[in-house]
Amino acid sequence: MAGDESISVGPGVSVLPPTQPELVEGIAHENPVVSDAGAGNDTTDSDPVTATALAGRLQHLSLSAQTIHADDFLNSHQSVAPPMHVSTTFRYNDDPDELRPWANINPNNPYDSHVYSRDSAPNTTRLEAVLTSILHGPALTYSSGLSAFHALLVFLNPKRVAIGGGYHGCHGVIQVLSKLTGLRTVDLLDPDFDADLQPGDVVHVETPLNPTGEARDLAYYAERAHKKGCYLTVDATFAPPPLLDPFAWGADVIMHSGTKYFGGHSDMLCGVLAINPKHAGAWVRGLREERLVLGSVMGSFEGWLGVRSLRTLEVRVKKQSADAEKLVAWLEGARKDAGSVASEMVAEVKHASLQAAAMEGNGWLARQMPNGFGPVFAVYMKDADFARRLPSKLALFHHATSLGGVESLVEWRAMTDAGVDKRLLRFSIGLEGFEDLRDDLIQGFEALRAERAAKDAGVAVAGA
Ligand SMILES: Cc1ncc(COP(=O)(O)O)c(C=O)c1O
Repeated sequence: MAGDESISVGPGVSVLPPTQPELVEGIAHENPVVSDAGAGNDTTDSDPVTATALAGRLQHLSLSAQTIHADDFLNSHQSVAPPMHVSTTFRYNDDPDELRPWANINPNNPYDSHVYSRDSAPNTTRLEAVLTSILHGPALTYSSGLSAFHALLVFLNPKRVAIGGGYHGCHGVIQVLSKLTGLRTVDLLDPDFDADLQPGDVVHVETPLNPTGEARDLAYYAERAHKKGCYLTVDATFAPPPLLDPFAWGADVIMHSGTKYFGGHSDMLCGVLAINPKHAGAWVRGLREERLVLGSVMGSFEGWLGVRSLRTLEVRVKKQSADAEKLVAWLEGARKDAGSVASEMVAEVKHASLQAAAMEGNGWLARQMPNGFGPVFAVYMKDADFARRLPSKLALFHHATSLGGVESLVEWRAMTDAGVDKRLLRFSIGLEGFEDLRDDLIQGFEALRAERAAKDAGVAVAGA
C-alpha cells in the first residue's frame, strides 16, 4: 500500500495518492470493462463496480438531500453548480509505468476517472451517482428509455418475456429482438402466464401503466416470477421516487424512461436501469461492457440537464402527483354529476387513485404507493370526436405526447399509439396547480359543448 501522505494538486488542494486501495476500490476503471475483464479481477458480486455505487452511502438522508448531494463526492472543483464537460476522451497518465488498460485514474478526483465517453463521462457519471442513491441500486444511464429496455433484454437474453399492455414502444423492442433471437412473448394478463416460463425468462411489469395510469401488484408478480426462476423487471417510469420503490416489492431490475420525471422539463432523452444490489457486481459490469459496444450512452449535455433536474425531483413529483389526484377526484365527481358539463362528454376516468379508493383501507396498492399514485391519468370521452377536439380547446395543457415535465400535457393518444381506443385522452399533470388546470378543463368542456351544439344545429362556427 502506498504511504498515506496527501499530495498537493493545486493551491490549498490535496488528495490522497490515487493508488491507495481505499480510495480507488470500486472505481469503474479499476476493473477493466472490456475483453480482459477476468484477468486479475477479484471483485465479488457484492463489491461496488462503479463509482456510482458509492452514492448509496446517503440512504439515511431525505430524497431531496440525496438528489442534491449524492454526487458531491464527484466534485473536484469549487463550483457549487456542476461544470459541464463535453470532452469525449481523457488524457492518460504522463508516467509510462502507470499505464494500465482501461484504468485512468484522475489524480484530482479518483472517483471521477474516465477513458472515453462511450464508456463513461463526468456529467453522466454524476447523474448515475444520484440515481444510484435514490433508486437504491447501482444505476446505468442510456440514450433513451427504449435503449435501456433494449440493453436489458440483450443482457438477460431471455427466451420468453411475459408482458401485458403498457407502453407500445417496449413491445416494439421485443419485436425487433424476436426477429434476431426468436424471443417470444407470453400474455401477462393470462392467469396462467407463468405455465411455460423457464428459469432465466423475464416477467416485465409496467406500473403504473401507460396510458391509463393504473397500477399492478408487484409483490404478486415477483412471487410468480421467482418461483419459476425468472427475473422481475419493472418499468417504473410513471412512478419515480418518492412514489414507488420496486426493489422493496421484489424487482430484479428497475427501468425508467428518464426522459419523463428525471428530466422533468421536456428537454432531454434518457433511459435508466437500476440493478437490485443482490445482482449488482456481475450484472452492472456486464451491462456496462455491453453498453460500451452497443454505444447507447447519453450525451454529456443531457447528463448535465439530468443532474440539474434531479435536484428538484421530490418537490416536483409530489406536487404533480397530488394535483393529479385532485383532478382525478374532481373529474370523477363531475362525470357522475348530471348537472355538470363534464358529464355530457366524459365516459370514464382511469388512474391508480381510483383503484386504491376501490380497495379496502390497507390493500396492496396503498402499501405499494404510499406517497401518491402518479401524475398521469386517462379519460375516455363519450366519442372519438370529443377526444380529438378537446385538446384544441385547452389553454394550459399543451397538446403533445410524452409526460413528466413541468408543463401539463394532454394527448389524443391515437396520435402516437395505433392500437389504442380512439376515445382516450392521456393527461400528464405539471406544476401549474389544481385550480387553474381544473378551470382550464371546465372552459374546454364548455367550448367543446358549444362547438358540438353549433355543429348539431348545422351552423358554421366562426373561426373554427
Ligand atoms: C412507460 C414507458 N416506458 C418507456 C418509454 C420509452 O422511453 P423513451 O421515450 O425515453 O425512449 C416510455 C415513453 O413514453 C414510457 O412511457
